[in-house]
Amino acid sequence: MRFRIAAIVASSALTFAVVAIAAPPKEGSAPPPPTFTIKPVVKGTAPAHKYTQAQISRGETLIRLAGCNDCHTPMMFDAQRGVPLPQMERMLSGHPEGAPDPQSKLAPGDQAVVGPTFTAFALPFGVVYAANLTPDLETGSGGWTEEAFFRMFRTGKHLGGAGRPILPPMPWASFAKASDEDLRSVFAYLRSIPPIKNKVPEPKVPEPAFQMVNKVNSMMLMAP
Ligand code: HEC
Repeated sequence: MRFRIAAIVASSALTFAVVAIAAPPKEGSAPPPPTFTIKPVVKGTAPAHKYTQAQISRGETLIRLAGCNDCHTPMMFDAQRGVPLPQMERMLSGHPEGAPDPQSKLAPGDQAVVGPTFTAFALPFGVVYAANLTPDLETGSGGWTEEAFFRMFRTGKHLGGAGRPILPPMPWASFAKASDEDLRSVFAYLRSIPPIKNKVPEPKVPEPAFQMVNKVNSMMLMAP
């Protein structure tokens, strides 16, 4: 049940309301500035593609509407303004290599603690990291095929490797019934953006939790 609730929360657009930022500050006061730095942006290498400008533009609209940037573009806390700001020079490049995990443990009742870059999520069963969606061949989406990308959204299974389930809070099921055309446009847009070399860590999740999420993902596929 807990997983189901987590999955449902995750599948709605992530808002600040459901998120406990690490080391909660006193109510109303800004959290202290981060005590870490992230590596400079490293330019990657993207494969050639033949998508049209119309497909790319449609993909961009869909990605903006679906809020993919909210989780896949890292944020850093801006001490001057007192709010987290997306790092657009790292657009959609996922959890930055070497960036910290969430700093605090889940308090009773919490479903997630989100790390300082807003790309690492401590859930009741482990820590999950937002993937690098930029078209870098080595560390991003450059090596993915369109077919594998479609399959991920339609089956809730990880793109590569041994077919482990996609973990929350990735809202894959919201796109499970999208048309080929829409998914192709999203993929086209991802092929067109600047490639960033950034190796995202594997999730820190024990095997029994994978099995449980697998069951929940199948249930989500059967939902109307
Ligand atoms: C609420 C946060 C969130 C949002 C919104 C989100 N993602 Fe993700 N995404 C994640 C996380 C976390 C992972 C890592 C999941 C895992 O390791 O199983 C991920 C993984 C992925 C993956 C890699 C899947 C794999 O096989 O490893 C792709 C592709 C992806 N997201 C695409 C998207 C696209 C496209 C959008 C917008 C339509 C999007 N995501 C929106 C959090 C999010």
